[in-house]
Amino acid sequence: MNVPSAATSDDIPRTVVSGPFAPGERVLLIDRKGRRYLVTLATGAEFHTHNGRLAHDDLIGQEEGASVRSTSGSRFSAVRPTLADFVLSMPRGAQVIYPKDLGPILVLADVFAGARVLEAGVGSGALSMALLRAGADVVGYELRPDFADRARRNVSAFLGNDCMCRYRVEHRDVYEGIEETGFDRVVLDLPEPWRVVDHAAAALRPGGIFVAYVPSIMQVAQLREALAASSFGMAETMEVLVRTWHVDGHAVRPDHRMVAHTGFLTSARLMADVEPAVAEPHAAPDSSS
Ligand SMILES: C[S@@+](CC[C@H](N)C(=O)[O-])C[C@H]1O[C@@H](n2cnc3c(N)ncnc32)[C@H](O)[C@@H]1O
Repeated sequence: MNVPSAATSDDIPRTVVSGPFAPGERVLLIDRKGRRYLVTLATGAEFHTHNGRLAHDDLIGQEEGASVRSTSGSRFSAVRPTLADFVLSMPRGAQVIYPKDLGPILVLADVFAGARVLEAGVGSGALSMALLRAGADVVGYELRPDFADRARRNVSAFLGNDCMCRYRVEHRDVYEGIEETGFDRVVLDLPEPWRVVDHAAAALRPGGIFVAYVPSIMQVAQLREALAASSFGMAETMEVLVRTWHVDGHAVRPDHRMVAHTGFLTSARLMADVEPAVAEPHAAPDSSS
């Protein structure tokens, strides 16, 4: 889904979730062909498209779902962008985690309102937004100060300044350790999560959940080895495949294109006692059949 951004400012925090559109708010415009455009409303401004100009004043004061016409008569529907819409269109420093994986990460990590979450690396802040939206208190570690700034700006642009009191991003290398303890969750999106396993075990409370997103199965193998040698148990790895469908009258079939691969999700829980992993003996061949 391509969502070109026509917004000129990403500094206007808007947390409006209902009511008529107001100046300063982001609005998602959808044209007749389903193309999406994200615009920030400003009194007197115009949005320029291939299909004519659209006055922001025609949208300000309208309810979500309203239709407006451009100067050439093309119709656009207007709604507030969802977190997924925003993540796909926001300014990026680093590659973001896609919405298809953000939802499963929240469930795998069992994120709840008030959960204390250590997140590393923070990148562009997409995962931070999902965690904060679910009500978590997030401490982020990020190696690059420019990415940390970008993440803070993206979070405040979409979730508003109120949520910044639950979000602290520190310029740190998580491979060197996690300073605080008592976290409920550790969530990672960085190249060598196996180097964080021991730090996570020291930073999490008993029963705490570790989740790591990595794009390659070689990284998964190395991470699983580190988890197997640690005090984490219940380790699981999964991949989320999403296939959309074309539904048009009797023409009902899977879409020809899909995002075939993004990454693998590995989760584990911190145990008080873990038996060292023992290789299963090979089962004798079944001679009964
Ligand atoms: C793929 S990006 C994360 C994207 C982020 N999850 C999102 O959804 O926007 C990976 C980030 O990890 C950071 N990183 C890499 N190694 C790190 C380390 N040892 N400590 C902290 N951050 C690290 C990188 O600078 C980069 O910003």
